[in-house]
Amino acid sequence: MTSAHLAPVPVTVRVPGKVNLELLVGGLRPDGFHSLSTVFQAVSLHDDVTVVEADDWGCTVTGPLAVGVPESGDNLAVRAARALARVTEIDTAVHITIRKGIPVAGGMAGGSADAAAALVACDRLWELGMAREELEEIGADLGSDVPFLVAGGTAIGSGRGERLAPVLARGTFHWVFALAEGGLSTPTVFAEIDRLRADRDIPEPSPTPELMGALRSGDPTQLALHLRNDLQEAAIALRPGLQEVIDDGLEFGALAGIVSGSGPTVAFLARDHETALDLAVALTASGAVRDVRRAHGPVHGAHVIPGPVD
Ligand code: C5P
Repeated sequence: MTSAHLAPVPVTVRVPGKVNLELLVGGLRPDGFHSLSTVFQAVSLHDDVTVVEADDWGCTVTGPLAVGVPESGDNLAVRAARALARVTEIDTAVHITIRKGIPVAGGMAGGSADAAAALVACDRLWELGMAREELEEIGADLGSDVPFLVAGGTAIGSGRGERLAPVLARGTFHWVFALAEGGLSTPTVFAEIDRLRADRDIPEPSPTPELMGALRSGDPTQLALHLRNDLQEAAIALRPGLQEVIDDGLEFGALAGIVSGSGPTVAFLARDHETALDLAVALTASGAVRDVRRAHGPVHGAHVIPGPVD
């Protein structure tokens, strides 16, 4: 029997979403991006991305959060796989299946996560053995958050968010995410922050020592005091209902509530696992949000798992 009779063997990669513990936005750069200083944390809401050799490039998106994700060549995962094939001169195609557990256009880097996963999955499928740093470099051209979703954990992002440095973070933090109806466009949120602070001085952003201290302590009450997102003001200006969601979560016992990235997902930090459960139940019962998800962080970046998971 020749190998032509064997079914192609798929590779599945699990990739986390992210929350920005601190997102400080500097000025607009000549290339249209803003200089950033951010501290990312990878959280256990995840997508599973499966790649398998195929005659043509293609993509299928499944799961309850699949609505709105393109299944064409525009899908960031397909673009990532093709970019890796180009760089390594591979001339076979893959079909990619994405099972979405990260909200779409929700400020949790769902699209960048799928690109990161596609890079790690194709690296394994094609037996390239590339270093994580090489995959991060290819990923940076596809989206500012892609390198972090390859790396995972907790890290500082600078430049436009793509330049990473590790952060010492102790312990596990418990999060509750309030999902909103519909997404927010990242460029629109950045344009809104430019409009809102047109008359303000914008300092060059750098990570705050207080946040670093809170992460070293592993104490969620300390971390809660130092969460900050400069895009929150813009996200709330575009979606005024988000302030109410934050207020509700605080009333239901969250230590802190913050818009995740460019929103409109709101991230609540809970004291512990039990409090997170109570908070999730209360937010769900309030009916004020589309859906609620619990997660913990930090978790690993994109990594191969045993098989497609239903
Ligand atoms: O890199 P990514 O694809 O996530 O960026 C999407 C858009 O968000 C960019 O085209 C830009 O409008 C905005 N952005 C920005 N500054 C950054 C990152 C993103 O203005 N540092």
